[in-house]
Amino acid sequence: MIDLKAYGIVMWDESKIASFRRTLLNWYDREKRDLPWRRTKNPYKIWISEIMLQQTQVQTVIPYYERFLDCFPTVTDLAAADEEKLLKAWEGLGYYSRVRNMQKAARQIVEEYQGHFPANYEQIAQLKGIGPYTAGAIASIAFDLPEPAVDGNVMRVLSRLFEIDYDIGQPKNRKIFQALMEILIDPNRPGDFNQALMDLGSDIESAKNPRPEESPVRFFSAAYLNGTMDKYPIKRPKKKPQPVQIQAFIIRNETGDYLLEKNKNSRLLEGFWSFPLMETSFIVQPLTLFDDSADSLRETLFQKKVFEEQYQISPSWSDRHFSQLKHVFSHRKWQIELTEGLLAAADIQESETVRWVSAADFVNYPFAAPQQKILDEYLKHDND
Ligand code: ADE
Repeated sequence: MIDLKAYGIVMWDESKIASFRRTLLNWYDREKRDLPWRRTKNPYKIWISEIMLQQTQVQTVIPYYERFLDCFPTVTDLAAADEEKLLKAWEGLGYYSRVRNMQKAARQIVEEYQGHFPANYEQIAQLKGIGPYTAGAIASIAFDLPEPAVDGNVMRVLSRLFEIDYDIGQPKNRKIFQALMEILIDPNRPGDFNQALMDLGSDIESAKNPRPEESPVRFFSAAYLNGTMDKYPIKRPKKKPQPVQIQAFIIRNETGDYLLEKNKNSRLLEGFWSFPLMETSFIVQPLTLFDDSADSLRETLFQKKVFEEQYQISPSWSDRHFSQLKHVFSHRKWQIELTEGLLAAADIQESETVRWVSAADFVNYPFAAPQQKILDEYLKHDND
């Protein structure tokens, strides 16, 4: 256990801790949101909700959560799921490595624990894709174990309660908050205690629009009492996502089908079907080619040549113009240009990873968010 004093934190005495727990839980009992995953103690369902909630807000998660559990009602169903059905159920949530890891963890549970979710923190934390936060959330909510679940919301609330002068964005500082929570957490209602702090942190104590006057625990808060709410939490701004140029090729055949390929080696979208994409940020074109054209036109012409060579095809290119699209991942910002071409169906060999697909059949292919944006932009011009 780390020494909190060494971090400038003055811990409360027992009676103040007891009073804090009572105040927070009374507020939670009055105000808690009625959410589908709060009506169950099933660790599998709580796990699904926690992973989804790491990337999206509660309101967005609800329909995904229900649909996902309809598709895969038990850990055994998830372990046995077909990859495309799995990605389809996650479509739109992003961070697809999370759902792949969930399937690996489900397989671990089936193989090592005969399909029964392990009921202690260490075993939960050893499952693929489950870090200390998720392990703590599952252990406390599903199994009533006194384990903290420290995420950004909880760190923000604690920073203000104790005026913690350590950056909440730095992974090495997480242990400070973890240690503090091990003392504060109510051993009788650990799951509710954790969720009360999550609710407080995502609404009244939010990062963008806090309403400190409404906080049920404002009189415990050093920052509130000392007028330093603006200073806490300490958080240095993150690096901006790096821009990446992408050329998307919408290739159609004589019956209107689209050429789709399955991504194999792009880490971001592995396993997804998409219109052929080419990263063009690093393609340096010889200056002498297409000398008489304007810069941007020359650039696209060259990219088309690279594409033709790579796929060994020569579509007839249309000159329709599409807007540039943007899609932001956590570390990358894609700037996508669209180009359209026509190709005879027989001019390309279909395979496991390259197919002609009709628009009506798209429902059977997992599309990641950028592909959906590309398709939407393309269809806007359908009648041009
Ligand atoms: N965010 C993450 N987990 C949550 C939960 N169980 N309830 C509300 N918001 C959350």
